[in-house]
Amino acid sequence: MEKSFHITTFGCQMNEHDSETLAGMLLERGYVQAKERKDANIVIFNTCSVRENADKRFFGTLGQLKKKKMEQGENFTVCVCGCMMQQQHIIDTLKAKYPWVDVIFGTHNLHQLPELLDNLYREKEKQLAILPDREEIVEGLPSRRLFQHKAFVNIMYGCNNFCTYCIVPYTRGREKSRKPEDILREIRSLVEDGVREVMLLGQNVNSYRGQSDDGSVTDFTDLLYQLQEVEGLERIRFMTSHPKDLSDKLIQAFVDCPKLGKYIHLPVQAGSSRVLKEMNRRYTREEYLKLVEKLRTAVPDIAISTDIIVGFPGETEEEFEETLTLCEAVRYDSAFTFLYSVRKGTPAEQYEDQIPEDVKHARFNRLVEVINRISAEKNAEYVGRTETVLVEGPGKTGGKTFSGRTASFKLVNFRGTPDMTGKLVKVRITESNTFSLVGEAAGPEA
Ligand code: 5AD
Ligand code: SF4
Repeated sequence: MEKSFHITTFGCQMNEHDSETLAGMLLERGYVQAKERKDANIVIFNTCSVRENADKRFFGTLGQLKKKKMEQGENFTVCVCGCMMQQQHIIDTLKAKYPWVDVIFGTHNLHQLPELLDNLYREKEKQLAILPDREEIVEGLPSRRLFQHKAFVNIMYGCNNFCTYCIVPYTRGREKSRKPEDILREIRSLVEDGVREVMLLGQNVNSYRGQSDDGSVTDFTDLLYQLQEVEGLERIRFMTSHPKDLSDKLIQAFVDCPKLGKYIHLPVQAGSSRVLKEMNRRYTREEYLKLVEKLRTAVPDIAISTDIIVGFPGETEEEFEETLTLCEAVRYDSAFTFLYSVRKGTPAEQYEDQIPEDVKHARFNRLVEVINRISAEKNAEYVGRTETVLVEGPGKTGGKTFSGRTASFKLVNFRGTPDMTGKLVKVRITESNTFSLVGEAAGPEA
């Protein structure tokens, strides 16, 4: 029987990219990818543990598969992986309530999926592979890209920051940087395969320190300057930057490297210095604002996005309002907003003064209103300008609509033709919305 698989991904771009690797490995071994979960005989869930509703959604969706598993037995395989699997209480829940799950593997065992499936089919025994962390990085894994012309490239794994609310340092382990030569080799081969834009991924790319075999060390900005020289690569982006590690050298790289998109994701998390201290963010409100000023002085049209948590334990009304005034001061192009949720095993789990749900929700709604108003105002400033857009392909609305992104990462929809896909095209912006722009093609880039 043909073995077809389907992967459902929860969470961040790091997880999206891990799923691209899982798909790449299975395709290489002759499995086929089903378009929909119901058509697959191997179902894989790549989970996220960062937020509470991600867990709830995962268990809800997993539960829906029980009936099919009971009916089809060995002919239907259920695999679960990703960040949640790095937590013992999740494994205990799976064993107790979902004993029919066939394969469970953690973030450090990703590359083993084909082998675990082979073992499952040969030995007819459930497979569990979870390492607490891994010293070395597994290189050379294949990947099935979600987009033809843009690719995610991990430059480092893990996080050493231990923000008090966050589970990631426990699920993804300590920081490890890939060798610069491995990254360059991968990117050159992606470019040969048609990729024009890379998104460099890491929990904190600013602390990238790649060590080559000859002992030399490449830091994040050195890597950017090297990528600037890769012929055929048009755009470089990265995610995420921790404000405490954003150097003057990196700000200068935005000035020196034309391929570097004029966009930075710079999570602030809160606007009050006291809350930031409790979160162990290691910068104050004032330091953050100064950083934004420095960025804007060097790169006046840089777009800035952020992550904000509402309702961290002990957050007072006044402290929440400091988040609002910070947003007004920075004027973010966009922001991801989160309701604080307790993560088991993090320091903030022990904090008293957890904020009641209704208060959190009310603050959240007020924040979203401010964020959306500012996003719409920032987008309106683009109307009348001509932007260089890297065309990603047909837009979601279909027809002759194509979509792409400006250097500042704004999504633009415009009337185009299929040959524009993967190219840099001039687009005159005619309209703006809260989350996107509308324009007219104004010719290829000179
Ligand atoms: N509660 C709410 N939001 C969280 N994030 C991380 N942990 C939590 C939590 N316990 C948010 C942060 C981070 C983003 C990826 O998720 O804002 O930057
Ligand atoms: Fe989590 Fe903080 Fe690390 Fe980001 S920097 S992954 S919020 S611990």
